[in-house]
Amino acid sequence: MACHMFLLLLCISLLYLPIYSSAKSDRLNDKPIIGVLAQEVYSPKPNQTAYIAASYVKFLESAGARVVPVMINRTLEEYKKLFNSINGILYPGGGVSIVSSGYEKAAKIFYELAIEANNRGDYFPVWGTCLGFEQLTYLTSGKAVLSYTNTSGVALPLSFTNEAKDSRMFKGFPAQLIKALASEPLTENSHKWSLGVLTYNTNEELRKFYKVLSTNTDGNVEFVSTVEAHEYPIYGTQWHPEKNAFEWRQPYIPHSPSAIKTTFYMAEFFVSEARKNFHKFESEEEESRALIYNYNPVYTGTKSSFEQIYFF
Ligand SMILES: *[C@@H]1O[C@H](CO)[C@@H](O)[C@H](O)[C@H]1NC(C)=O
Ligand SMILES: *[C@@H]1O[C@H](CO)[C@@H](O)[C@H](O)[C@H]1NC(C)=O
Ligand SMILES: *[C@@H]1O[C@H](CO)[C@@H](O)[C@H](O)[C@H]1NC(C)=O
Repeated sequence: MACHMFLLLLCISLLYLPIYSSAKSDRLNDKPIIGVLAQEVYSPKPNQTAYIAASYVKFLESAGARVVPVMINRTLEEYKKLFNSINGILYPGGGVSIVSSGYEKAAKIFYELAIEANNRGDYFPVWGTCLGFEQLTYLTSGKAVLSYTNTSGVALPLSFTNEAKDSRMFKGFPAQLIKALASEPLTENSHKWSLGVLTYNTNEELRKFYKVLSTNTDGNVEFVSTVEAHEYPIYGTQWHPEKNAFEWRQPYIPHSPSAIKTTFYMAEFFVSEARKNFHKFESEEEESRALIYNYNPVYTGTKSSFEQIYFF
């Protein structure tokens, strides 16, 4: 009897072991491909109606991902197909409407597809930087909740909350870098609109959805500067992790060794999230046609705040 029991247990454990370990998702995707959302250019020209600043592309490439541009004004069907081909998406900073723009429409579709996929156990990470973070607050709360802050062009240290220590985002950071982030102005802010801490505290949708990992102040209004969703691999920074290593036009962008490490640890974190997704293109040809390598960035540093831009 005891012997039978042992065999039965052995059988069960043999049966369950492979299923259990794949459910734990210790398998990783070594070839992650991440979508970067384009947005309308401010003054369109022939062949220049939308753009992506190259620093977002370099940011992801620096951590071992390849990038696919996500064009605006495409159909739901095209976006669904692309969603099932890529392993994560990044909403960059910029200057378009978070209520009504091609950027907003695409961001909303991918956000909803991501929520639905994650609910099914299909791990799909979403990252919003600056405008992208503001877009996430709008998508999650269903309304415009931002307040004016005097933060257009300033580097700040992060005021970490107690939740930062055990956060998915920061728990793998070296203690020394966390110390530097908390004490040196390593995070570049270029925004006039922010999610006030007071607004967050009194907005149930946002509180239920996001954990605040850091805050900042313009001396007047305290605002949320880093979030991660409680139950979803959805992340936002009001500041610009990609600029430290890749943008040089503004004097307030920090380039110290700790500032550069900040870029790479943030990139490494998001790409490590994308490695947990296994979407892929239907064929290698389709993948090749979609990659950003099909486009050439233009040197724009002499007339823009970005060194290089991809125009579409
Ligand atoms: C726009 O792109 C098309 C196709 O690549 C090219 O033939 C045309 O010369 C471009 N026009 C301008 C104004 O650059
Ligand atoms: C997107 O579509 C809108 C109208 O639906 C149009 O005004 C805009 O020029 C388009 N932008 C691009 C980049 O295709
Ligand atoms: C805005 O902040 C800057 C410092 O970043 C400061 O010099 C300036 O006086 C502030 N402006 C207002 C209106 O508070």
